[in-house]
Amino acid sequence: MDRELHGRLDELQRHPYPHYERARRADGLTYVAELDAWLVARDADVREVLRRPEDFSSGNALIPDVLPPPAALAVLGGGFGGRPVVVTADGALHQQLRAPIVRGLSPARVAAALPYAAERAAALVDAFVKDGHVELMSAYAGKLPGEVIGRIVGLDPADVPAVVHGGRRAEELLFRPLEEDEQVAAAEDVVAMQHILDRYARERHAEPREDLCTELVTSVVGEGEGEGELTLEHRHELVAHLQNLLIAGHLTTTALIGTTVLHLLRHPGQWELLCAEPGRIPAAVEEAARYDGALQGFRRITTGPVTLSGTELPAGATLFVAFGAANRDSARHPRPDEFDITRPPGRHLAFGLGVHSCPGSQLAREQLRLTLEELTRRLPGLRLADDRPVTMRPTMIHRSPQALNLTW
Ligand code: HEM
Repeated sequence: MDRELHGRLDELQRHPYPHYERARRADGLTYVAELDAWLVARDADVREVLRRPEDFSSGNALIPDVLPPPAALAVLGGGFGGRPVVVTADGALHQQLRAPIVRGLSPARVAAALPYAAERAAALVDAFVKDGHVELMSAYAGKLPGEVIGRIVGLDPADVPAVVHGGRRAEELLFRPLEEDEQVAAAEDVVAMQHILDRYARERHAEPREDLCTELVTSVVGEGEGEGELTLEHRHELVAHLQNLLIAGHLTTTALIGTTVLHLLRHPGQWELLCAEPGRIPAAVEEAARYDGALQGFRRITTGPVTLSGTELPAGATLFVAFGAANRDSARHPRPDEFDITRPPGRHLAFGLGVHSCPGSQLAREQLRLTLEELTRRLPGLRLADDRPVTMRPTMIHRSPQALNLTW
């Protein structure tokens, strides 16, 4: 993608809502050059696509905006991965890849991780509560989800920072226009993360434990099978799986913590209401996820000729399925552009729908709940620092404030 187009894409990503509105009002689907895709923006159309995975394949869901140059690809060649992952798989392979993740994120497993999550949330707040100001993304939102998913996967806390960093660098490498030396440096960080994940895969193969990493190893190698070392193919598969799961698990949650706090503080009356009536926290989380979700949309590709919303599409057409646009559709959500934590619950699409719907949604919601409980209880005087305007990061997959400076 050239720099001029990338500049326009950044602008769209920072301010997608006017584009969504135009697309919702238009007849049929709207082709958006910046996204290189047909924008699916109405709630009913998004639901239709998500309910017909055989016609709308996820094969292109993670297509990068930037193709790394040969020097970065050479670095990546020294790593692991490059195998099918759950988000981009269809049909039977998708079910096979998804099953161990669903088991590893079962309500019981999530519940078992909550005391640790609560302890970490409190400790992160302890570190800045006396300062009178904080940049929440780096001091809190960028930390808690990595620690929590790290715990569930079975990582040693000492390895979490490098794994989180590697995930962020993978996103930068594939979605940001970096200079070539930066692309090579990002690829090196990604490969360093992959080597850590490979070590875990081999260790859990040798000595299984009660964690999600073991769940994945067992699903790939087979129960009670695979005496001896993991094959190289299995190692590639497992690292791809783990990397995908970890990135899906922490970057999204980091982002939603940031946007949730941002919108609550932009509406001080609602923040005060929440502090006075913390029983409203779960509803506030749902409203933040609806109003400005972290994962704005993913792509799909048509498997054959199909008509959607009156637009005829050939086989191989790319769609951008915008959960974030559907969530502002007045046909489903009255007064959709108003942030209102008191609205009656409506079925939003912030965590997707159907076969690919988010298996980590409960874990994400619990972390949002813990965060708001902690902040409303300990820092009810929280407000946005008025000297620093908030800008959003240019991304459709981890929408969040670039930085969130708060005072109290
Ligand atoms: C606020 C946080 C989160 C948001 C907004 C979010 C959103 C989503 C959405 C919309 C999808 C559907 C994608 C599609 O239809 O193509 C999805 C899938 C997925 N999410 Fe989440 N997610 C979040 C947190 C998590 C967490 C905490 C985990 C894991 C611990 C996770 C793991 C996954 C995985 C593995 C998939 C792919 C499922 C499949 O393809 O079958 N997510 N997520």
